[in-house]
Amino acid sequence: MERSLSMELVRVTEAAAVSASRWMGRGLKNEADDAATTAMRTVFDTIPMQGIVVIGEGEMDEAPMLYIGEELGTGIGPEVDVAVDPLEGTNIVAAGGWNALAVIAIADKGNLLNAPDMYMDKIAVGPEAVGKIDIDASVTENLLAVAKAKNKNIGDVVATVLNRERHTAIIDEIRAAGARIKLINDGDVAAAINTAFDETGVDILFGLGGAPEGVIAAVGLKCLGGEIQGRLVPSNDAERERCLKMGIDVDKVLYMDDLVKGDDAIFAATGVTDGELLRGVQFKGGFSETHSLVMRSKSGTIRFVEGRHSMEKKPLLVMQD
Ligand code: FBP
Repeated sequence: MERSLSMELVRVTEAAAVSASRWMGRGLKNEADDAATTAMRTVFDTIPMQGIVVIGEGEMDEAPMLYIGEELGTGIGPEVDVAVDPLEGTNIVAAGGWNALAVIAIADKGNLLNAPDMYMDKIAVGPEAVGKIDIDASVTENLLAVAKAKNKNIGDVVATVLNRERHTAIIDEIRAAGARIKLINDGDVAAAINTAFDETGVDILFGLGGAPEGVIAAVGLKCLGGEIQGRLVPSNDAERERCLKMGIDVDKVLYMDDLVKGDDAIFAATGVTDGELLRGVQFKGGFSETHSLVMRSKSGTIRFVEGRHSMEKKPLLVMQD
């Protein structure tokens, strides 16, 4: 892949974030998602690559754009798999909450797991705890392993978990082990990425979230030298059947190289609403400000990019309602 693709992808997440953030707190999650998707789709057309959506807004017959199998880019350039989540955290934006992102992950063609839209059990950590976690071990064992790897007491470890009833047992075990918890209402891509940044104060992610989000987080963590392990959790026979058809063994643990193969992948995210790592979009009258993270696994380069976008010269970034 071309090195310059990283910066091109930031332009895509910036456009999606600005468009989605216009809907912050307005209680309209579908409108926010549509705005992000439309902006993302439009800017993709200017990127020199031959991309195929492998994780997107749905199957061809259910999503008008960024559907699985859709071709993206100018048709000239590297052949890549594209995973998009134009708005990761639709409810977050609707409620004006924390940590909504516009996010893209790409890798060489054939290298991203074509994860079906179902739950994935996940455990994720940053670089210091790589090789120390095990999705088949207990929550307590994993917390102890992370504490040891990071030279902390277990009481200093912070686990992040989606605040869902299905996670009651995990939450109870974390509490019983004496670790601390950051419960989040949505957005486990940001939560997984945050485990790799000390300043976020989060050490480990546990629990079930979307499988597509698991693949996107895996690309981010590959760039950061972190680790995520996952296992698909079909909720019914139809989902189980789907895994079978796709040749995915639902009992198998999915390690980093199962989720994203090879050593060349790019992750780009722009904050839509404020988060621990990225600020959300700010509107300043004539221009908007964005805060993005872009990383490439091959080089290990991590960039934080601040953008100022003229609302006059870039009409795409002006309110679309
Ligand atoms: P959306 O942006 O599609 O609403 O997803 C938000 C999210 O919180 C993801 O981050 C997470 O993986 C998934 O939803 C969890 O699903 P559920 O809300 O069903 O628990």
